[in-house]
Formats: sequence, C-alpha cells, structure tokens
Amino acid sequence: MKPLLLLGKTGQLGQELARLLPSTFAVQTLGRADLDFTQVQRLKQVVLDIQPHSIVNAAAYTAVDQAEKEPEQAFAMNQAVPMALAEVAKQLEIPLIHISTDYVFDGQHHRPYQETDQPSPIGVYGRSKLAGEEAIRQTWANHYIVRTAWLYGALGQGNFVKTMLRLGQSRAELGVVFDQIGSPTSTTYLAEGIIKLVQGLAIAAIDPSRSAGTYHLANSGVASWYDFAIAIFEEARARQFPLVLQRVNPLTTAEYPTVAHRPAYSVLSSRKLETLLPLTPTHWRESLRSMLDQLMQEML
Ligand SMILES: NC(=O)c1ccc[n+]([C@@H]2O[C@H](COP(=O)([O-])OP(=O)(O)OC[C@H]3O[C@@H](n4cnc5c(N)ncnc54)[C@H](OP(=O)(O)O)[C@@H]3O)[C@@H](O)[C@H]2O)c1
Repeated sequence: MKPLLLLGKTGQLGQELARLLPSTFAVQTLGRADLDFTQVQRLKQVVLDIQPHSIVNAAAYTAVDQAEKEPEQAFAMNQAVPMALAEVAKQLEIPLIHISTDYVFDGQHHRPYQETDQPSPIGVYGRSKLAGEEAIRQTWANHYIVRTAWLYGALGQGNFVKTMLRLGQSRAELGVVFDQIGSPTSTTYLAEGIIKLVQGLAIAAIDPSRSAGTYHLANSGVASWYDFAIAIFEEARARQFPLVLQRVNPLTTAEYPTVAHRPAYSVLSSRKLETLLPLTPTHWRESLRSMLDQLMQEML
C-alpha cells in the first residue's frame, strides 16, 4: 500500500497529524533529522523514492520576527520547498495538501477574510508563504492550500498558549495586545479537518478536478490576543494549573512593538471548506478547553 507522506513531523501541527491520522493510512513522516528540506533536489528524490499517494506539507519557516532578518531562509523553506513538492506531486500525479497562513493578508478588513480576497502581506513571513502558495498554483493543479491562523497545540515546541502558561507561573502581571483580532485555532481542530480532506481524496469522494484550490480552516469565533490570554488563564485556573499571575493588562500594538508588523485583523471565514467537508464548526474556546485537557494529561 502506498503511504501518505507527512512533512514536518516535529512541528506542532505535524505531531498532531501524526497522532490523529487513522491507522488505515500507512503514514511515512519526514523531518529535519531525515534531511534539510531546503536541499530541494534531495527532497524531490526522497519523495520519489517513497512513492506516496498524497503529500501533506506541515513544515514551514514559522519564526515571524526572525524572518525579517533572514528572508532568504524564510523564502527557501516557504517558497522553494512548496514549489519542489508541487513539482514532485505533478510527476507522481498525486494531491499536495499544503498549509498556509492568515498573514498573507494585510489586516485592513473588518469582516472575515474569504479565499477570494486579495492577499497583501505586510511582513517577510507572510510574503514568503504567499510566494509558496503562488508557486504551487503555477505548478500543479491538484493542490489544496489550507490557510489557518493563530495556531496552538499541546504538542510541539512553543505557541501563545504555552507562553502564557509559562509566564503565568512566574509573573504577577502581564501586558497583552488587544488591537490585533484573529481566529485562535487548535492543531487538533485543524488536523481533524485536514484528515477529512485526505480521507475524502483517498476514497475519491472528493474530486480534485472540481474542488482543488485554496481554502481557509480556523476555529469559529474571534478574539484579540488579550481576550485569548484572559480565556487561557480562566481555563487554566479552572484546571488548578499553578499560576501566580494576578493581572493581565491590555496593551496597544504601539505599546508592544515587534520586529515584524502583524495584521490588525486576520479572521478567516471557513465557509468554503465547510461546504466541501463534513466539518462541525467549533468555537475557539471549546478547542482551547480540549487543548488544555490534553496538555494537563501530558504533564501528569
Ligand atoms: N504557528 C502559527 O501560529 C501558524 C499560523 C498560521 C499558519 N501556520 C502554518 O501552519 C503550518 C504548521 O505550523 P506549525 O505552527 O505547526 O509550525 P512549527 O511548529 O514551527 O513546525 C514547523 C516544522 O517545519 C520543520 N522545518 C522547518 N524548516 C525545516 C527545514 N529546513 N528542513 C526540514 N524541516 C524544517 C520544523 O522542523 P524542526 O522542528 O526541526 O525545526 C517543524 O517540524 C505552517 O505552514 C505554518 O506556516 C502557523
């Protein structure tokens, strides 16, 4: 049986996908320990040797601020790698599922972004991810580009939830930005959607000639980083997580400058994918509760 190839096995999404993919899929994973994906000729040969039935690319250069200082590395990983994967997917005539980001948008909207909205990234990371999307579109029609947002999960190195919990254990007071609005999305919710897509493709219930293209997939509901932080601490307290934190102060973006500019509003509408897949839209707070339960289980 041909395997499904998953790239980015050590990332927060990659680990969650590996955990949740049903055993009916023979999953082959690749990570940096196997090879540096930016060696694209080697990467293509490795994929050809594996002969997968589909590719899921959960690997990316995701250091948003660092990308401003090393754009070559960001573009190597976020543009050249997806292009190589699209080329090899074309050669093998298999679907490529690739993950992208809300940061392809400039954040000037005041209603959820749809797939038809014009991207206009305001930082190197967003530009490199958009370049990757465009490389795929130009190379191979049988692709599903799934943009997500404000991703966090129990597995993997770091994310906003884990940072808040860490700081909440050592600091009495914290400042968090309240004028950036988005869709906090758990890796579990995203991975479940991706798996439904992969399953639909595998059993030919989904026809790429009709549905290949770009989609958004985020938890429902909106929040500022401040709202999100408040919810994290409320839910953590309800689970007896050891916090010393007393107070969270709302900050403006101007009061908390970062190297990279971030969109002020990057809520994604997932309606298009909800018409293709049997998804149950789930509010971000519900997914946050599940993630904290999963995290606490792993800490026991
Ligand atoms: N995080 C977010 O808030 C967010 C928001 C919107 C969209 N997204 C998108 O969602 C997807 C998954 O993100 P994530 O948060 O799960 O990312 P992540 O935790 O940072 O994981 C990225 C993965 O890519 C791998 N990788 C990076 N450079 C590599 C290289 N040169 N060779 C081989 N592997 C390499 C990393 O390997 P190492 O572990 O060895 O570094 C890791 O496995 C990405 O496409 C990202 O752009 C993320």
